[in-house]
Amino acid sequence: MSETSVQLELIDQLRNRSARVAILGLGYVGLPLAVVFAEAGFHVVGIDPDQRKVDTIRRGESYIQDVPGEQVRRLVAEGRLEATTDFAVLQHADAVSICVPTPLRKTGDPDLQYIVSATEELAKYVHPKMVVVLESTTYPGTTREILLPKLGDKKELVVGENFFLAFSPERVDPGREDWTTLNTPKVIGGITPACTKVATEWYCQALQTVVPVTSTEVAEMAKLLENTFRMINIGLVNEMAIMCNRLGVDVWEVIDAAATKPFGYMKFTPGPGLGGHCIPIDPLYLSWKLRALNYTARFIELASEINTEMPRYVVGKVQDALNESCKPIKGSRILVLGAAYKPDIDDLRESPALDVIGLLKQKGADVAYHDPYIPRLDHEGWAMESVPDLMEAVKQADCVVIVTNHKVYDYDAFLQSAALIVDTRNALGQAGKNNQKVVRL
Ligand SMILES: NC(=O)c1ccc[n+]([C@@H]2O[C@H](COP(=O)([O-])OP(=O)(O)OC[C@H]3O[C@@H](n4cnc5c(N)ncnc54)[C@H](O)[C@@H]3O)[C@@H](O)[C@H]2O)c1
Repeated sequence: MSETSVQLELIDQLRNRSARVAILGLGYVGLPLAVVFAEAGFHVVGIDPDQRKVDTIRRGESYIQDVPGEQVRRLVAEGRLEATTDFAVLQHADAVSICVPTPLRKTGDPDLQYIVSATEELAKYVHPKMVVVLESTTYPGTTREILLPKLGDKKELVVGENFFLAFSPERVDPGREDWTTLNTPKVIGGITPACTKVATEWYCQALQTVVPVTSTEVAEMAKLLENTFRMINIGLVNEMAIMCNRLGVDVWEVIDAAATKPFGYMKFTPGPGLGGHCIPIDPLYLSWKLRALNYTARFIELASEINTEMPRYVVGKVQDALNESCKPIKGSRILVLGAAYKPDIDDLRESPALDVIGLLKQKGADVAYHDPYIPRLDHEGWAMESVPDLMEAVKQADCVVIVTNHKVYDYDAFLQSAALIVDTRNALGQAGKNNQKVVRL
């Protein structure tokens, strides 16, 4: 079979949905993607070593807030979505997407162990007429330098001819309803133009907008530009908050005023620190790669330094606010409101709430927390449950610290009942301004 015919045959199978799709990693990225492909008419099998996730899907339930359980139930019942821990099903797959975690090591260096192990499993079953797309965020060069040698070392496989490899960064923003996996434009770059073409054909079948680029490195770097842009702008606005505080100027009013400019400005807001699986981590993949090339990514390092200090800055605010009431932080009852890293979701990963609570505990405060989406925290040597009676806890606290501005909270009630509030998100808005018992970031 000539190379062109393999490519054409695979494209044909993708178009007529007879291609079998496999998703490696069924987390925040993989499960929504699996569901989108299944809805588009593909047979999808999700592979994850986490037996609990696999069992949950098999029962027709969801563990990801953005994926309704009802949808999983229907797709599983119709036989369009399956889940397994058995990688051997990859031998029957034609189109494989890798959505595994890319965390940092304790040293702050990239930890590619999940990409490597998923790729090594896939390498056992990779075969001609297969397209593979890496979705995990990583440094430029990963697809070509790590995946290609592991997947393409079988004699019968020639990348771009009978086997196709690409990178497509996931952009999902958990909890968001207007931009989802389905309608957020998807960038795809292949190892060769043929790889880009096949991967684009596949993704076009299910996603509304696909944006092909000329290489895996461009696609990898595009994701890092997006997240580095956010991280640096958050660092900038956090420093603005610190500078405004020194100047005695209301940073929130400054930001709203600047945001009236209809062009050339994008609004970012300060907060207690960075959270989530992407913004605090992804830019460090880039700076690590550049360090290996003898280059220091100065913007990233500076913004990272400012953002990392924000939980400590918040604790300083709490300490100063208590001091005004002649109370030491040691022994004071402090209630942290919101533990998720952003509003209205149950994602705790890298949440600054964990650092704020840890620092308060270190200083001897009697800390409790409440989060409607996170019933229990278990973090580096300490664990606690969300308080059962929110308003009673608000009344009892010497200081309430708003860390995550969940929409379901009744902020007027907090204002009425709390003795002292440190508001790190401007959740109280105008009502918190010039209020004796409110300290804002
Ligand atoms: N969560 C987000 O909002 C988001 C957004 C954009 C990009 N990303 C990126 O997408 C990637 C995945 O993130 P996530 O949030 O879905 O992570 P996650 O931790 O929610 O899910 C990853 C899944 O991969 C599974 N896994 C681990 N090793 C595996 C292996 N060898 N084979 C198969 N499955 C394996 C884990 O059990 C887990 O279920 C990361 O690189 C992340 O940076 C995440």
